[in-house]
Amino acid sequence: MRFFDHIVLGSGIAGLSYALKAAAKGRVALITKRRLADSNTAWAQGGVACVMSGEDSFGLHIRDTLEAGAGLCREEAVRTIVTEGPDRIAELIDMGVHFDRRTDRNGAEELDLTREGGHSKRRILHFQDSTGREIENTLLAQIASHPRIEVMDHHMAVDFITTGKLGFAIENSCVGVYVLDEKKGVVETLRSDTTILATGGCGKIYLYTTNPDIATGDGVAMAWRAGAVIENMEFIQFHPTCLYHPSIKSFLVSEALRGEGAVLINEKGRRFMDKTHPLKELAPRDIVARAIDAEMKRSGAKCVYLDISAKPADFVRSRFPTIHETCLKAGLDMTQEPIPVVPAAHYQCGGVKTDLHGETSIRGLYAIGEVASTGLHGANRLASNSLLEGVVMAHRAFEKATRKQREPVAVDLPEWRAGSVQDVDEMVVISHNWEEVRRLMWDYVGIVRTDKRLQRAATRLRNLHAEVQEFYWNFKVSTDLLELRNLVTVASLVVDCALGRKESRGLHFTLDYPERDDARFLRDTHLRRF
Ligand code: SIN
Repeated sequence: MRFFDHIVLGSGIAGLSYALKAAAKGRVALITKRRLADSNTAWAQGGVACVMSGEDSFGLHIRDTLEAGAGLCREEAVRTIVTEGPDRIAELIDMGVHFDRRTDRNGAEELDLTREGGHSKRRILHFQDSTGREIENTLLAQIASHPRIEVMDHHMAVDFITTGKLGFAIENSCVGVYVLDEKKGVVETLRSDTTILATGGCGKIYLYTTNPDIATGDGVAMAWRAGAVIENMEFIQFHPTCLYHPSIKSFLVSEALRGEGAVLINEKGRRFMDKTHPLKELAPRDIVARAIDAEMKRSGAKCVYLDISAKPADFVRSRFPTIHETCLKAGLDMTQEPIPVVPAAHYQCGGVKTDLHGETSIRGLYAIGEVASTGLHGANRLASNSLLEGVVMAHRAFEKATRKQREPVAVDLPEWRAGSVQDVDEMVVISHNWEEVRRLMWDYVGIVRTDKRLQRAATRLRNLHAEVQEFYWNFKVSTDLLELRNLVTVASLVVDCALGRKESRGLHFTLDYPERDDARFLRDTHLRRF
C-alpha cells in the first residue's frame, strides 16, 4: 500500500490544475489511464467562456447560462463560476497559456474574443482552434518536473475504497483507490484521505462522438458503485457539427465557425436554421442539433453541410488551422466548399453531484470538471463554459481539501484480491459488447427519444450488465474489461435518468412528452445505489 496526501484521477484541465496547486501542500499521485496528454481538454477547440471585456458583464454571462440550462441550473453555482472566472484565467495566462489577441480601433492590443451559440456577447477566449491543447501543454510543462507529483500513466482506477464498503459504521468516506498498472498487470492499493475525480465524460457510450477514446465514463461509474449521488445523466449534449467522413472519426468542427459566420445548409444548398430560431445558426446547441436531425430525417440525407466559404480564405486558414488541415486530409478545401457534418455525442451535463467546492456525497471524494455536476449546466451546457468550470472548480476543491482539518480516517486497507489469474480468452466478447452498447445508445437513447426505445435500451443493458459482471469476477481485470464495465454502468444511468423524466427539457427530448412540464419536473434527477 502506498500513501499520498492527494490522489488525482484524470489529466485534463481540472485534474492538472488541482495537482499543481495541491503539490504546494503535499505529495500528489496523478493517475491517468493512457498517456498524460490524452484528455478531453486536449481536444477542446472552441475556447473558454469568460467575461473579459467592458462590453460584457457577469450578469449577461449568468443570464445566458441560465437560459441555456432550461430551468435546472443552480444559480449560486453559475454566479460563483462566472464571477471567479477572470482570476483563474489570469493564473493561466501567468503560467504561459496563450490566447489569441488582436489590435483594437485605437491600435491597442486586446483579447480576440469570439462568439458561440447561446452567448449574447463575444466572450470566448481561444487559441486559434486548439485552445484545449494550448492549455493542456502549458499545464503539462509545469507538471513534468514537479518533485511532489508522481505521475502514474497507463494506470486505470478500478474502484474507490470506502469506509462504507469496508463495513465501518461512520459517515461514508473515501480512503483510497485500487489502481491497475496496465503494463505490469497488477492492481495496486493507494491510500489517501483526499481523492479527486477528474476523469471527464462519457461520449464513448455512443457510436458517434466528438470525444477521444478515453471518454468511457469511468468516474461516474466508480462514484456510483461507491454510493455517491449521481444526477441529471439524461442530459447528454450532442454537438451539432462533427465531421462526416468515412475514415476520420470523432473530429469536431468547432461552433466557433458559426460564431464567425458559417451557415448550415442542406444537400440542396438551402439554409434551414433561419426558419427554426431567431438566433439561426447561433441558437443553443440542443436546438441546432435537433434541427439537423430533423433535416436529415426529412431529406433522408446522411449529413448536412457547414459553409464558411464566403469568408476570406486567409482568415479561415489562420483562424481555423487545425480544422482546415484536417479537412484537406479528407480532400476538402473549406475555404472553397462546404464541410459535411452530423451531430455527435459531445458532453455529459450531469454527473457526480457536488457542492460548490467539488465535494461529493462521499467524504473526502471530490469531483471536478465534466465528471461532476455542480449545477452550472442544468439541462443544457452553454458552449465553452466547461473549461471555465474545470479551472474554477479545481481551485475551489483545492481550497476546501487543504483548508479543513479533518481527523484522518484510521483504517488498514485490504489488498486487492484478483478473482482469477486467467486472462480473458474471449476478447471478441469484450469488443462485441462494447460495440453493442454504443450502437444501442445511438439508436435508442439519442437526440430524439421515446419511452419504448428507452425501455428497449434498458432491457438490453441489463443483459449486458450480467455478462460483464461474470467476466469481471471470473477473469483477470484489463483496461478493456474495466472500460466496458464502466460503459455499461454509465449507459444504464443515462437510460434510468431519461426514463424518469416524463417531459422534454433542454437536451432531453422525448416524442412521448414533447412539452416542458415545470409543475412536475422542475427538479434534478437523482440516483444513488444503496
Ligand atoms: C466547440 O468548439 O464547438 C466546442 C466548444 C464547447 O463544446 O464548449
